[in-house]
Amino acid sequence: MDNRSELYQLAAQFLRQLEERGEAFLLLENINLADYPGAQAAAPEAGKAPEAVKPGPELSGQPRPGESLEAFGARIASCTRCRLHESRTKFVFGAGHPGADMLFIGEGPGAEEDRQGLPFVGRSGQLLTKIIASIGFTREEIYIANMVKCRPPGNRDPRPEEIEECNGYLLTQLELIKPKVIVTLGRFSAGYFHGSPGAAMRDLRGQIGEFHGVKVVSTYHPAALLRNSNWKRGCWEDMLLARKVYDQAGGRASSGAVYRPGN
Ligand code: URA
Repeated sequence: MDNRSELYQLAAQFLRQLEERGEAFLLLENINLADYPGAQAAAPEAGKAPEAVKPGPELSGQPRPGESLEAFGARIASCTRCRLHESRTKFVFGAGHPGADMLFIGEGPGAEEDRQGLPFVGRSGQLLTKIIASIGFTREEIYIANMVKCRPPGNRDPRPEEIEECNGYLLTQLELIKPKVIVTLGRFSAGYFHGSPGAAMRDLRGQIGEFHGVKVVSTYHPAALLRNSNWKRGCWEDMLLARKVYDQAGGRASSGAVYRPGN
């Protein structure tokens, strides 16, 4: 069975479980089993099949010996390495399970994140919570971080030199968390973790990359989904791929009541 067919099987399985439990699918309205008609047999070909594997850039972040993720975050919270520190309210290190097997990586904090010092707590964050739940996880079971840790003024894109200055911190987080799967959100983190900076999302979605032994799957940024809700279904299918890769890599079981791989 090809990868696309397997994803359709997962989609149908998930929707069947929801139906049995009488639960609504929070991420997508107006979706049902009939949308995946071939899932029980062979699913129709759509888009390109996922393929492996491109090496990412070199690791360079270094934790101090024995340093915990929390201690590392506290040590770097007063960072002044790039100009973003001048306009920030709070440094946004990351949040979630310090030993998570799945790590989500966005772009950079927005206004609400800058106020609270936490990633993805504004409107995009509410949608991200649903995206995470759509494959059976809570936010406490995974970890969320960003390419840059301080808010770019006016929510502009992070600049290459800002990403470069912040990069060692993210790599250190990776070394400490040791996830099995990275899910990138939007084109900045997708380009970086697939080793193809500047590449378009359409060329990276559906690929299974590898970054220093960690599998990489990419999907849209939640803010893009808020602007274009037609992309939500594609996002969910990306997430099913991420979940499949996670299960294959031996990721821990999720608490999600709905998604049970193998059922
Ligand atoms: N967008 C991001 O990329 N990260 C956040 O933390 C919030 C919004």
